Amino acid sequence: MLPSGMSRVLSITILISLYIFAAECKFETLAHLRPQATDDSQARAVGDLLQRLIGARANEFIVVVNRSLGLANGDLDTYELRSARNEMISVTGNTGVAAATGIYNYLKYFCNCHVSWSGDQLRVPSPLPSITGVLKITTPNRFRYYQNVCTQSYSMVWWDWERWEREIDWMALNGINLPLAFSGQEAIWQEVYLSLGLNQSDIDSFFTGPAFLAWGRMSNLHGWGGPLPQSWHLKQLYLQYKILDRMRSLGMIPVLPAFAGQVPEAISKIYPKANVTKLDPWSHFNCTYSCAYLLDPRDPLFQHIGTLFMTQLVRQFGTDHVYNADTFNEMTPASSEPAYLSSISAAVFSAMTSADPQAVWLMQGWLFVHQPTFWRPPQIKALLGGVPLGRMIVLDLIAESNPMYSSTQSFYGQPFIWCMLHNFGGNSGLFGTVESINRGPFEALSFPNSTMVGTGLTPEGIEQNPVVYELMSELAWRREPVNLQKWVSLYSARRYGSRDENVAAAWSLLFRSIYNCTVPFYKNHNHSPLVHRPSLRMNTDVWYNRSDLFEAWRLMYIAAKPLMSVETFKHDLVDVTREALQLAVSEYYLEIRKAFQKHLLSELLTAGGVLVYDLLPELDRLLSSESRFLLGVWLEQARSLALDEREASLYEMNARNQITLWGPEGNILDYASKEWGGLIGDYYSQRWSLFVTTLVKCVDRGSPFKQDAFNRDVFKVEKGFVYNQRRYPSKPTGDTYEIATRVFLKYYRPIMKKLSTACHSVISLEESPIFQDLFPQ
Ligand SMILES: *[C@@H]1O[C@H](CO)[C@@H](O)[C@H](O)[C@H]1NC(C)=O
Ligand SMILES: *[C@@H]1O[C@H](CO)[C@@H](O)[C@H](O)[C@H]1NC(C)=O
Ligand SMILES: *[C@@H]1O[C@H](CO)[C@@H](O)[C@H](O)[C@H]1NC(C)=O
Ligand SMILES: *[C@@H]1O[C@H](CO)[C@@H](O)[C@H](O)[C@H]1NC(C)=O
Ligand SMILES: *[C@@H]1O[C@H](CO)[C@@H](O)[C@H](O)[C@H]1NC(C)=O
Ligand SMILES: *[C@@H]1O[C@H](CO)[C@@H](O)[C@H](O)[C@H]1NC(C)=O
Ligand SMILES: *[C@@H]1O[C@H](CO)[C@@H](O)[C@H](O)[C@H]1NC(C)=O
Repeated sequence: MLPSGMSRVLSITILISLYIFAAECKFETLAHLRPQATDDSQARAVGDLLQRLIGARANEFIVVVNRSLGLANGDLDTYELRSARNEMISVTGNTGVAAATGIYNYLKYFCNCHVSWSGDQLRVPSPLPSITGVLKITTPNRFRYYQNVCTQSYSMVWWDWERWEREIDWMALNGINLPLAFSGQEAIWQEVYLSLGLNQSDIDSFFTGPAFLAWGRMSNLHGWGGPLPQSWHLKQLYLQYKILDRMRSLGMIPVLPAFAGQVPEAISKIYPKANVTKLDPWSHFNCTYSCAYLLDPRDPLFQHIGTLFMTQLVRQFGTDHVYNADTFNEMTPASSEPAYLSSISAAVFSAMTSADPQAVWLMQGWLFVHQPTFWRPPQIKALLGGVPLGRMIVLDLIAESNPMYSSTQSFYGQPFIWCMLHNFGGNSGLFGTVESINRGPFEALSFPNSTMVGTGLTPEGIEQNPVVYELMSELAWRREPVNLQKWVSLYSARRYGSRDENVAAAWSLLFRSIYNCTVPFYKNHNHSPLVHRPSLRMNTDVWYNRSDLFEAWRLMYIAAKPLMSVETFKHDLVDVTREALQLAVSEYYLEIRKAFQKHLLSELLTAGGVLVYDLLPELDRLLSSESRFLLGVWLEQARSLALDEREASLYEMNARNQITLWGPEGNILDYASKEWGGLIGDYYSQRWSLFVTTLVKCVDRGSPFKQDAFNRDVFKVEKGFVYNQRRYPSKPTGDTYEIATRVFLKYYRPIMKKLSTACHSVISLEESPIFQDLFPQ
């Protein structure tokens, strides 16, 4: 519970930060994007959400949705909270989402409760704390967007309805009103292509397997991990109906897919005259699974296929008029002529409007960040200018570290959404840019002639670092930055349901270091040697002060004993310990390398022995003791979607390949790495073992280490994991506290000692990976 008086202070803080906002609607062209469900049905949907969340206590809330409340406040989402008779709390929102956000704000700041991907803390006080007066909050922007097109593959691919339901609840509580709804689209595509005369084998070699659909949809890949079973289509359709129904009932505006131009190769068999271009291979793939076929949007066939698809899509799913299409994602267009680029976007948009005259095109702005040498101002201006002003929404996709609005005069007048990308590949690892997200959205809104219409969350993968997503979601409803240190102190109190000085101090340290990445353009892949193929040239730099993390680890550990029954705390103790051990791996790696370079066999054996025979096995045991760090869960979810053993093997191969080799031959090796129990033991650990043994042999024989030969050998280990057919537990095993204690006692002091003697650098701008992408030498 909060110390008495705290909730009163909080409500005053919130009240001070709000004022009545009455800006005119920014884009009339977007005015039709609003909930279709009736006010009453939205209120009922929020009531049901509350039942799922807090059971019978839901009856102590009165939920009202009244759309006039938004209209009275600059057409912006608004909620009002007040005490009602019989110690009840009444919430009125202009949409279901606004009401749900209000309730979550109340649960957080009056009841000290918390809901997250890694567990809830929902000890709601009884009676409900009362509210003095009316707490009214209006968001400064129309939209809160959620998901990257990749999230669908990295995190959501194996979800059943239960998991989706939980996520949609999370979205509503966190204020999301513009979510991507991409499931089931391949079923529609299959129908369209069959109706055009393609046969099943043409289609089977086109779709990727489930875990790679995001890149099939963006013309990066075809066929890899496929073919998609017919049962997949049915199940995804069923899910999509439920997803859309639930999103809409809560007052969200789901974003559907549109036609971006990628077509099966066999289209040319039926339309030999169509202007289909074979693209260059994507990333490290060759044309076996890449080199997509792109239909020129100006070709009449593009309009035909686009209209067929959209008509069928809308017939099946209904529409809220927002459609996503990314034609040139990580793909170089055929020409950089502005006239060409604007004719392409005009044609893509025209295929949307021919099926839905009210269509609005939502585009990920990643292409501009990814290929800055191609996308110069004239090219960006031309692409955006091909669509009538206000009929496109650009996602400024990684605005927390590389905003594009400022160098494009606010996307040359097209509306945009300031998005936090935060995570690549669904990697494990603590990370955040809290200073930047605390400032960025407000700066973007006050930019001269800003066309900003919202904020968004666009992580490639989720279920990591919930603190960052809670902060960003909250900022979307604020008028000014928060005091980060105060904010995180309240966060830790509600996440664990109690205040503990050590825990609060730990979070304070984390927020000033690991969560406060300020390196410009820093791209958050997990760069740790732990999750990469070993070599003698690995980078061990980090963006923060290591001692802060180790001190946070110590503080979490000494506070742990009485808190172990709190699921969020248990999770975080594992997560922080995991992060500390990840740093420890780097220290042992440096020792191994030094010993090898100096031909010191016994030092090499000692450091290598600790790493392979103790540190990594302990990390594996630690992760295996916590339900949210289990390889077995990921594999089990994949297999459970299958109808028979053949499908189960295909799904399992997809699931294993994505998080390791990423492609048949390690094409994007370890891009989507995960630190999970089972994976540390049977994948990363095996690889390190081979590395250490190889180095030992080299020193012993006086021969050099050959990376090429090692790569060939280690590929067998990596591929061996993908096909090892072993089952992994999907329930935690072992006592977390016992393991954490052992690990702490064994490693805390030695690592602190190594740190104080090692000469470490903090990553510099020029070394940051995205800097090198942006400004190649
Ligand atoms: C909705 O709010 C408006 C404006 O405050 C009010 O006039 C109207 O009666 C409300 N409608 C309902 C159903 O409460
Ligand atoms: C589909 O058509 C191709 C020729 O375009 C043919 O080789 C293949 O056998 C056909 N597949 C089926 C299932 O009919
Ligand atoms: C292309 O990739 C496929 C699949 O990974 C592989 O089997 C084939 O050898 C590669 N072809 C070339 C020419 O490298
Ligand atoms: C075919 O499409 C490509 C790519 O969009 C374009 O460069 C080319 O000019 C088009 N050819 C014709 C004849 O339209
Ligand atoms: C903002 O828009 C106004 C009116 O269109 C224009 O005169 C002004 O130059 C713009 N300012 C900037 C900084 O682009
Ligand atoms: C984050 O780092 C910056 C620059 O070092 C510093 O000014 C700021 O106070 C830090 N933020 C927090 C929350 O500690
Ligand atoms: C790193 O943090 C430790 C304590 O957490 C502090 O003593 C040290 O001065 C910091 N180092 C730098 C370079 O800021």
